[in-house]
Amino acid sequence: MGDHHSFQSLANSIQAVASPFRAYLCDLQQQYQGVREGKVADYIPELAKADPEWFGVSVVTVDGRVYEVGDCHQPFTIQSISKAFVYGLALEAHGREVVLAKVGVEPTGEAFNAIILDEVTNRPYNPMVNAGAIATTDLIPGSTATDRLNHLLDFFRRFTGRQIYIDTSVATSERITGSRNRAIAHLMHNFGMISDRIDETLELYFQQCSILVTAHDLAVMGATLANAGINPVTREQAIDPRYVQDILSVMHSCGMYDYSGEWMYRVGIPAKSGVGGGITAVAPRRLGIGTFSPRLDPKGNSVRGIKVCEALTQELGLHPFNMVPATQDVGSVNF
Ligand code: DON
Repeated sequence: MGDHHSFQSLANSIQAVASPFRAYLCDLQQQYQGVREGKVADYIPELAKADPEWFGVSVVTVDGRVYEVGDCHQPFTIQSISKAFVYGLALEAHGREVVLAKVGVEPTGEAFNAIILDEVTNRPYNPMVNAGAIATTDLIPGSTATDRLNHLLDFFRRFTGRQIYIDTSVATSERITGSRNRAIAHLMHNFGMISDRIDETLELYFQQCSILVTAHDLAVMGATLANAGINPVTREQAIDPRYVQDILSVMHSCGMYDYSGEWMYRVGIPAKSGVGGGITAVAPRRLGIGTFSPRLDPKGNSVRGIKVCEALTQELGLHPFNMVPATQDVGSVNF
């Protein structure tokens, strides 16, 4: 990391300690640390090794300020959160029409791993469920598996601002237990929704889901989307701003699966969850939120993460349809 970035990181840390908002985050974490509903994912056996008590919260503003508490630098696998970003990668590589021909933008109201396709178009309904994600991963460009993986890793590097690594134990665990995803992929190949490189795409999907991130990374990634695709920490353009609208729209309607309706009612901002226990949420033009707590509800969403995001959007007045003044203003000096 260059001198500028290390200074910025130090400045952020000092600022984070001094700010009233960080004190609020500490209170929030203490409030929900005692919540022990939910269950750590085990259908991918390697995921069951997570400590159920891990709990980190990070908020990154579009001008690069960082506020975080708890286990916000504890690495875990990104899982389905990756789908929102790979959707952007596919859009940037092929444009809207090519991607729309392979995957829709309609919520299903079903579980994330449902084996269903749109009966009229034969497309998977949206890129946030496993079917649509596999079809989107199939669109990652490259002439070899290595080229495609490197393209994927560099894309995530731009969003996190750091080198990206894959948890190979989780990727192996996914591959060994991935029969349902294999069935989904072959069903989509039957309808021409994915190419002949089925096994290569599935392996790429397992690797994509096994990318290691932290709650801090998820907040930076969310803030990058909030900031028209410009990473607020590195100032690098991570994605063409034309496609941020598409990513946020589909996160907004489908990002929390069959909880998406209640999420829109209670929290309101675009978000994406993962069975590793992460949530990234995006307040456009304001900030990104990253939470990490491995205990999941029956729909595969982090129990503590949902509660933290609901509290944060109320405290900061982030709900897009909110009409009353916030308790804390993101833009204020002492925020
Ligand atoms: O394919 C799977 O089932 C996992 N790699 C991802 C599922 C997931 O994260 C669902 N999100 N809550």
